[in-house]
Amino acid sequence: MSPKVAFITGGNGITGSAILEHLVKKTDSTEWSKIIVTSRSPFQAAVEDDRITFVPLDYTQEVQTLIDAMLPACSGVTHAFFSSYIHRDGFEALNVANHGLFKNFLDSLLEVAPNLECCLLQTGGKHYNVHLGPVPSPAREEEPRRDSPIGNFYYQQEDYLFEKQQGATWRWNVVRPEAIIGATPKPNGMNEALTIAFYFIVCKEMGIEAKMPSNKRYWDGHDDASDARLVADLSIWASTHPHAGNQAFNVTNGDYFSWRYMEPRLAAYFGASASSEQTFATPHPTEGGPCLDLSLSQWSQDKRQVWERICHRANLPEASSTWDAGTWAFQDWVFQRTWCATLSMNKAREFGWTGYMDSYKSFTDAFKQLEKQGVLPKSN
Ligand SMILES: NC(=O)c1ccc[n+]([C@@H]2O[C@H](COP(=O)([O-])OP(=O)(O)OC[C@H]3O[C@@H](n4cnc5c(N)ncnc54)[C@H](OP(=O)(O)O)[C@@H]3O)[C@@H](O)[C@H]2O)c1
Repeated sequence: MSPKVAFITGGNGITGSAILEHLVKKTDSTEWSKIIVTSRSPFQAAVEDDRITFVPLDYTQEVQTLIDAMLPACSGVTHAFFSSYIHRDGFEALNVANHGLFKNFLDSLLEVAPNLECCLLQTGGKHYNVHLGPVPSPAREEEPRRDSPIGNFYYQQEDYLFEKQQGATWRWNVVRPEAIIGATPKPNGMNEALTIAFYFIVCKEMGIEAKMPSNKRYWDGHDDASDARLVADLSIWASTHPHAGNQAFNVTNGDYFSWRYMEPRLAAYFGASASSEQTFATPHPTEGGPCLDLSLSQWSQDKRQVWERICHRANLPEASSTWDAGTWAFQDWVFQRTWCATLSMNKAREFGWTGYMDSYKSFTDAFKQLEKQGVLPKSN
């Protein structure tokens, strides 16, 4: 069998960089001979490999402009992974910003890659509207779509993928993670591990309890998360196993946890204190509406000086600016929910994928990686 050629979009992002890292660390040139990476801004590679070619692309540009930039580097592409994303803090603005991005990607790809075998689109839990209100949990891939008045850009992306694949020889996959836990080479749109790390470190510095910035219903309930390395693993697996072709798969760590017990463990990693006996302002919020005892967006506004002091003392002056990489409003989206919204992993398992990850380890591995990158001071 001839070696495969990967095309990864969103190469500076939390997913694209993890897919790249997976291919570099776990495969060789007999399996994957070339890895083409694209991102909008200059490449900030976390890994090195002779197989990597970087092509900067902005998917808001005309398709012909993209085609011109992709030729000839991309003509041998066999497997494409779409992880480009424009973050906006408002859900309506998010739909508008991402409209057209995937269409331009696919239109240009199909013009330049005649040997395409699989095109994988990454979406996420928002497919099930987990961000908008209570939905059946754990959500299963086969559930009918839940339309909302504000729409959902993932449905447009999927529909375009399905439409273009009709009658073609290549396969499609859709991969749907929950909050992705990992470290990015540059600031990105949604980064739970980084954001809560800032919170714990600053609370410790201020000598205050790191109370869970959420509500009692969410804190008491159950949740899940998706390690970026697992998202990469499932993406490569699905795209290279023809029996898993033309299928959507959820991808999470495979365990469910309660923030009531997870949050104090994560706080302890940084030497901050948090309690599983925390009291909340609203003891039992009604299911469905948003509720936050503490908004991280607001909380973060006057903590920059504390962060700078920590970085200065840790001899990490360049980390001072990373405060702006905290994805505060995204974290408020997640923690304001008064419902549990998890994803089922049964389908991928039935198809033969065996990946899993302990979620505590997932968080602490990301913290360690961020420390290694000099984004966070060493915790001990
Ligand atoms: N992060 C999470 O916690 C999470 C959770 C569930 C689902 N998801 C979903 O996963 C998918 C990928 O998101 P992500 O979090 O991996 O993204 P991300 O880390 O924010 O990275 C986004 C990537 O898209 C690139 N990009 C932005 N605008 C672009 C444009 N106009 N043209 C080309 N590339 C552009 C960025 O390029 P530059 O950085 O180079 O500018 C970056 O490489 C999205 O559908 C997202 O909703 C993410």
